Amino acid sequence: MSSSGGPRRVFLETYGCQMNVADSELIGGVLRRHGWTRADDPADADVLLLNTCAIRENAEERVVGRLGELMRFKNARPGVQLGLLGCMASHHREALLDRAPWLDVIVGPDGYRDLPRLLEEAGDPRIEIRLDRGETYADLVPDHAPGPRAWITVMRGCDRFCTFCVVPDPRGRERSLPLEAVLAQVESVAESGRREVVFLGQTVNAWRADGLGFGDLLRRTARVEGIERIRFTSPHPSDFTEALIAAIAEEPKVMPYVHLPLQSASDPVLAAMRRDYTSDQYRAILGRLRAAVPGLAVSTDLIAGFPGETEADFQRSLDFLDEAAFDFAYLFKYSAREGTRAARFAETVDEAEKGRRLRALIDRQEEISLDKHRARISQEVRVLVEGPARRPVGCVFGKSEDFKTVILPGEGLAPGDVARVRIAAATSHTLLAAGVTSRRAPSLGAPEADEIRHLPA
Ligand code: SAH
Ligand code: SF4
Ligand code: F3S
Repeated sequence: MSSSGGPRRVFLETYGCQMNVADSELIGGVLRRHGWTRADDPADADVLLLNTCAIRENAEERVVGRLGELMRFKNARPGVQLGLLGCMASHHREALLDRAPWLDVIVGPDGYRDLPRLLEEAGDPRIEIRLDRGETYADLVPDHAPGPRAWITVMRGCDRFCTFCVVPDPRGRERSLPLEAVLAQVESVAESGRREVVFLGQTVNAWRADGLGFGDLLRRTARVEGIERIRFTSPHPSDFTEALIAAIAEEPKVMPYVHLPLQSASDPVLAAMRRDYTSDQYRAILGRLRAAVPGLAVSTDLIAGFPGETEADFQRSLDFLDEAAFDFAYLFKYSAREGTRAARFAETVDEAEKGRRLRALIDRQEEISLDKHRARISQEVRVLVEGPARRPVGCVFGKSEDFKTVILPGEGLAPGDVARVRIAAATSHTLLAAGVTSRRAPSLGAPEADEIRHLPA
């Protein structure tokens, strides 16, 4: 099981989306079973690993900066290894071999099974990127972070090739875990006392296996005892079938929140992005979801300054925020990514203008989110408690059924409890509860508040 005198302590830092966070939990499990332990401080570690993201230029810049810092620890002690994992490793595979010879391992998202061996072998930079093996890690058990929620990757890769997006390159072709493998993971996290599962995939609702679709997976998961809340991210708008919408509407354990990435509300821009829907088709899907699921919360992703986006195109996205009244939105400046089709399109929006458009979207969405949150004041919500809030002292935090962060008085509450509370105040990001009207027990280890990440990166 264990390595033969090789490095023993691993420092692992994660960047990017929730799937990368889940991959780090998988890596943690693989390494622990091979005898490694975790180090919280790079100064104490024998192996320094960064699990990286390539989605936008600034994501990569952060990692490059961090690598520079970690080199200090590698140079300070002989034998310390430095490794690059994840989407940047995979996306820049060839260039990295030339330009970063000081990297001891370069391992893409499909190579984690081999990580212990690669770290133990001596020699030149060791690289494992192969994306052609249909790897799903279906048989490997991740070390899930403590807390009442578990993230479970149910499909990997992406076949959609939106023109702006790098993901299909580093993560390879779409593949689903078999039904039984997913259910085994759900049962195992339920047995460990967790109450909530979040299914993950870049187009998670494209999951299909054993003749079943994603709606069937949700229904089968709802039968697992102990699991009370089921969520998923990120679905693609075009993969919302009637059967899936029915499952969300009919299964009480499937929570009333969906992330429905729009990207742009202008049809010419959507076509240039190859998003596979028009703004009207998106409207129709949103309408069907909202009609089927009362009280549904919806979030989205939008990109400002895609090549060719005119002021009128941009205005459509801005106006769509009012029309759709999303609960929140992840808003990005377009970032050209090497190897994507859009990287060959002439950039027509300069950085300053991208910044202005992004700011306008953020300001508008902040107002909408604040209005939506204020409308909840004096309503009752059910909160699954996650752990102590940083502020105010004595409070805990958790999520409502529709995925709002709620801060509530913590007395008598522990992680895993479900509390019914009345909302007393709101900001654009948080709901604050005045008193707990009822609660229900069993408890788990608490995650730190700053471990909690939003979906997706
Ligand atoms: N699979 C998800 C998206 C994953 S990436 C989907 O299809 O919706 C998360 C978000 O990052 C995307 O929704 C998009 O809004 C943003 N994004 C991806 N590539 C980008 C780029 N090149 N520039 C700016 N934003 C980008
Ligand atoms: Fe990227 Fe999502 Fe499009 Fe796949 S569906 S290419 S992950 S934006
Ligand atoms: Fe980034 Fe890879 Fe996720 S590029 S957003 S870590 S799939």
